[in-house]
Amino acid sequence: MKSVEELLQELREKIHLYDYHYYVLAEPLISDYEYDHLLKELEKLESENPQFFSSDSPTQRVGKDLTKEFKPVTHQFPMLSLANTYNESEVLDFDRRVKEILGEHEKVEYVLEYKIDGASVSINYVNGKLKTAATRGDGTTGEEITQNIKTIKSVPLKLKIYPHPKYSLNNIEVRGEIYMDMEDFELLNKEREERGEKLFANPRNSSAGTLKLQDPQMVAKRPLKIFIYYLLSKENELQQQSENLELLSALGFRINKDFQVCKSIEEVLQICRKFEEQRDSLPFEIDGAVIKVNSIRQQNILGSIAKSPRWAVAFKFKAKQATTLLKAITWQVGRTGAVTPVAELEPVFLAGSTISRATLHNLDEIRRKDIRVNDIVVLEKGGDVIPKIVSVLLDERKDDSLPTEPPKNCPVCNSVLFQPEDEVALYCENLECPAQIKGKLEHFASRTAMDIEGLGEALVDLFVEKKFLKNAADIYDLKFHREELIQIERLGEKSIDNLLSSIEKSKQQPFAKVLFAIGIRYVGAGVAKKLADHFLSLENLQKASKEELTNVFEIGESIAESILQFFSDEKNLLIIERLQKHGLVFSSEKKIITENVFTNKSFVLTGALENFSREEAGEKIISFGGKVISSVSKKTDFVLSGEAAGSKLEKAKSLGIKILSENDFLEMLKSVLGT
Ligand code: IVH
Repeated sequence: MKSVEELLQELREKIHLYDYHYYVLAEPLISDYEYDHLLKELEKLESENPQFFSSDSPTQRVGKDLTKEFKPVTHQFPMLSLANTYNESEVLDFDRRVKEILGEHEKVEYVLEYKIDGASVSINYVNGKLKTAATRGDGTTGEEITQNIKTIKSVPLKLKIYPHPKYSLNNIEVRGEIYMDMEDFELLNKEREERGEKLFANPRNSSAGTLKLQDPQMVAKRPLKIFIYYLLSKENELQQQSENLELLSALGFRINKDFQVCKSIEEVLQICRKFEEQRDSLPFEIDGAVIKVNSIRQQNILGSIAKSPRWAVAFKFKAKQATTLLKAITWQVGRTGAVTPVAELEPVFLAGSTISRATLHNLDEIRRKDIRVNDIVVLEKGGDVIPKIVSVLLDERKDDSLPTEPPKNCPVCNSVLFQPEDEVALYCENLECPAQIKGKLEHFASRTAMDIEGLGEALVDLFVEKKFLKNAADIYDLKFHREELIQIERLGEKSIDNLLSSIEKSKQQPFAKVLFAIGIRYVGAGVAKKLADHFLSLENLQKASKEELTNVFEIGESIAESILQFFSDEKNLLIIERLQKHGLVFSSEKKIITENVFTNKSFVLTGALENFSREEAGEKIISFGGKVISSVSKKTDFVLSGEAAGSKLEKAKSLGIKILSENDFLEMLKSVLGT
C-alpha cells in the first residue's frame, strides 16, 4: 500500500502535468470534470494531513491573505528595456553598430520574437522551486508580486526538469510578459460594464493593474497569460537565445513558438514585415518585433549602455490609422475652467475599439493642422490609448469650408472666456460654472483622490442639478439628506447607503490624497505627495512662503504661486474648514525614524547619478528624515554631486559645503540600513 505522503506526491504531480498540458501546451489531457474531481481529492487529503504541507502544491496557487504591501525586490540582473527603431534604415543602423563592435570576421545571427504588449515580470526559482516574482519597477528594484503570479496556471510552481543534466539551475531568474488575449479582455470589460465598474483602457493596462491587486483570489479570476522569453543565471552555460527559449520550453514554461532565427539582416527585415502583417490575426496584442543577437558570447561582448542592451532592439510597428468624418468640434470645460476642443467623429473602428471622439488639445493644435468641421481626418492610436488626429485629407475638403474659430463664451454658463497672454488655453473664469463645479467634484471623488466609490460622473451631474452639491464639503453633508436622496428616481435605498458609507470611508484617505483632491491648480498626485511629506500638515503648508515652497525639491515657481493663490481665496478656506470639521485627514504622521546621518540634514542634488535617478535618491533622503532642497545656500548641509554637475557644485565649493560623491552617499545609506 502507498503511504499518504506518496499518494499526495502522486496526485500533485498528476495535477501539475494536467495544468501544463492545459495551460502551457493548450492540449488538455482530461475533462474539466475529472480535473475538478482530482483537485478536490487533493484538497481533502491535504487538509487531513497538514503535516505534509507543500508550498508548491497545485492547491497553493491562490492564497487567502491580502497582500498588504508590495515589498521591494532587487533584481539579480537589472531588467533592461529596449531601444526602439521605427523603420528599416534604423534597423540597418543597429546591424551596422553590432558588426562594428564585433568586427568583420564575426558572423551574426539574430532571433526575432514578438514584442508582446503587456507587463514584464521577473520570476526567481531557487533549487527548482518558484520563490519570488517581481514587477520591473525602475529596472533595478521591482515590487514583489509572488502571490499574484502564482495564481497564473501557466507559471510552473517548480521546474519540470530539476536538477538538469546539462545546465545548473540552482538559482535562476526567468523574464517574460504578462498579457491578456484581446477576446478575454473584451469579455472582462463587458462584465465590468454590466456591474457599473470602470472599464480598462486596453489589455496592457488591465494586465498591469491586475498584477497590483491586493487580493490573489481576484487575480485568479482574471484571464492573465504569460510568455517567458529569457532565462538568466550566474552560472549560465547557455550559448544562444534560441537555445534559451528551447530550454525554457523544456522546463515547462510557456514560450511563444513563433520566434525565428535569421541568418542575415535582410531576413530580419523580411520577418519584421511578416510579423507586422500577422499582427491583426494574433489573439493577443503585439506592438513590434524584438531583434536579438542570437549568440550569448556576442551579447556579452556587445554589453549594454545605460538602461538598454546593445545586442537587442525593438522594431516598433506603425501606429494603426483610420480615416473618418469630423462631424463637429465641441468645447469642453474642465475643472480648472480650461476650455478644450473635442472632435466629434463619425464612429470608426481602430485597433480594437470604436472611436467617436478625440481630443484636439488646444486652439494652436487646430490651427497648426488646420482642422475644420466636415473634414475627413486621419486618426491614429499610438502607444497610448487616446486616439489623436494626425492630419486632414485636404483633397477631400469642400470649397465652402471655413477655418475653425474658438468660442467667445463659455459653452456651459455663457460667461465671456479669457485667454491669458502666455497660454494657448482659453478659460471660463466663472467659479460658479456648473461644468467646473462638476469637474471639481468628480476629481475630488475619483479613485486616485478621495476614492469615493459610486460617486462618478452620472451621480455628480444629478446631485449638482438637484442642488445637493456645490462643492466638495457638501459631499459630507449628503448623509443629512438620506431620505430625499432615496426618493430620487432610480436611486434605491441600498445604493444610497452604499454611497454614504463609501463617503464616510473616504475620511480615512491620507493627507497627500486630500491635498490632491482639493484641486489646487498644478498640484497633481505626485506634487501633493511631496508637499505632504515635506510640510506634514495643512497648517504648515498654509504658512509656507513662496521661498519655502520653491525650496522643496521639484516645486517650481508656478506651483508655488498657485498654492499661495489658492490659500488666499476665502471661498477655498471656508470649504477646507468644513472638510476639517467633517474629520478629513489634514496632517501626516511623522514616520518614526531613529536618529541617523540624514536626520534633519538638508541636501541639494546635482548632476546625474549612476545607481539612482535624482528622484529616487531624494525619496531615500526624505524617508530617512532628511530634507531635499533645490538651491544651495549657507544652510545646506550636503551637496550630492553626480556626473556633469554644474553651477550648484561650484556654489557649494565656494560656500565650503560638504560635497558627497555617489559612493559617499551609498556609504551613508549603508550606515543607516546596517548593511
Ligand atoms: S527582451 C534586454 N523580449 O518590451 C532585453 N522584451 O523595453 C529586454 N517585451 O521591458 C527584454 N516582448 O517588457 C524582450 N520578446 C520580448 C518582449 C519584450 C515584450 C517588453 C519587455 C521589455 C520591453 C522593452
